[in-house]
Amino acid sequence: MPATLRCDPALFHRDLRGRTYIVTGANSGSGLTTTEQLVRQGAHVVAACRRVAAGEEATRALASAGGTVEVGELDLGRLASVHRFVDAFLEKHDRLDGLVNNAGVMNTPAGRTEDGFETQFGVNHLGHFLLTERLIPALKAGAPSRVVCVSSVAHAGMRREARLDLDDPHFERRPYDGMAAYSQSKLAIVIYARHLARRLAGTGVSVFSTHPGWIRSNLVQHPALRWVQNIALRPFSRPLGLISAEDGAQTQLHCLLDDDAPNHSGEYYSQNSVLYANRSDRPGGWPMRSPNPLVYDDELAERLYRESARMVGLEISATTDRLS
Ligand SMILES: NC(=O)c1ccc[n+]([C@@H]2O[C@H](COP(=O)([O-])OP(=O)(O)OC[C@H]3O[C@@H](n4cnc5c(N)ncnc54)[C@H](OP(=O)(O)O)[C@@H]3O)[C@@H](O)[C@H]2O)c1
Repeated sequence: MPATLRCDPALFHRDLRGRTYIVTGANSGSGLTTTEQLVRQGAHVVAACRRVAAGEEATRALASAGGTVEVGELDLGRLASVHRFVDAFLEKHDRLDGLVNNAGVMNTPAGRTEDGFETQFGVNHLGHFLLTERLIPALKAGAPSRVVCVSSVAHAGMRREARLDLDDPHFERRPYDGMAAYSQSKLAIVIYARHLARRLAGTGVSVFSTHPGWIRSNLVQHPALRWVQNIALRPFSRPLGLISAEDGAQTQLHCLLDDDAPNHSGEYYSQNSVLYANRSDRPGGWPMRSPNPLVYDDELAERLYRESARMVGLEISATTDRLS
């Protein structure tokens, strides 16, 4: 198994006092370890959590870590919740230094978000799309600022090639397949990050997509499978490529903190993985070319942007529309 990619330790000594970050899904897994690191460096982190009590419990120990944490309620499966979160954020803050779109669900049973979207497309892509679009003015005010969109190697395919079907994104005219829906949502994230980077070129806001690695976390839905992954397979972690939540945060932290990263806005940063359809792509790269050619399809990206805006009820104005 290729070595786990880790941040330059010097980046973890950077003084982040006075900087404000939002991390979604901050109560668990790599979202929590990302939050912990930023707070240790003195940042103010808004921990955007579906369950506020879980967010408060998870971040309580950070009270004496150096920076500060504020837990905000954000359910990405409800557009009204995303609007409420952004309104509350903008009431208190006029600038944002970094947004980490980390929250996610994987391989959920067939289902719908409150607004009628397929669950994984709705939570993983559309919820974060609305959040990011509404925060663009705050990100511009905080420039140089960064957006990190956590995707997955699954965007390149799992059992079969990943597809983004914009004629049927919610699986209304094709049989539901939980992993195909996960791959579709994660592919949408990588495509959107690249498109957004082009729209924001010259503003000082950089955008990245990541695969954080195969992490021991709560992402696996079924309790028995989660036990197998997190407990039973632990002694075999290294050969299997399973990594800790701390290592699962490295790729996002590199994108947030590395000086050279803004020169690669729009690119895909990947921790190593055993899940690629094409096994020769196993080593990661910061950054690397995505193995999925659809990521580089500009027409598909433009269509995804317009369709996503329509679905979440955002109007595309002349200013946000412009591609560099
Ligand atoms: N674990 C892996 O091997 C792996 C591999 C590739 C990519 N990723 C990606 O890495 C990211 C972090 O995953 P993780 O492994 O750290 O998993 P995790 O521990 O399960 O964390 C997922 C987070 O997302 C939150 N979330 C779920 N539904 C939400 C919603 N509707 N609104 C707001 N937040 C919601 C969860 O909140 P609750 O606790 O309230 O459910 C939790 O805080 C995900 O985007 C995942 O797809 C993970």
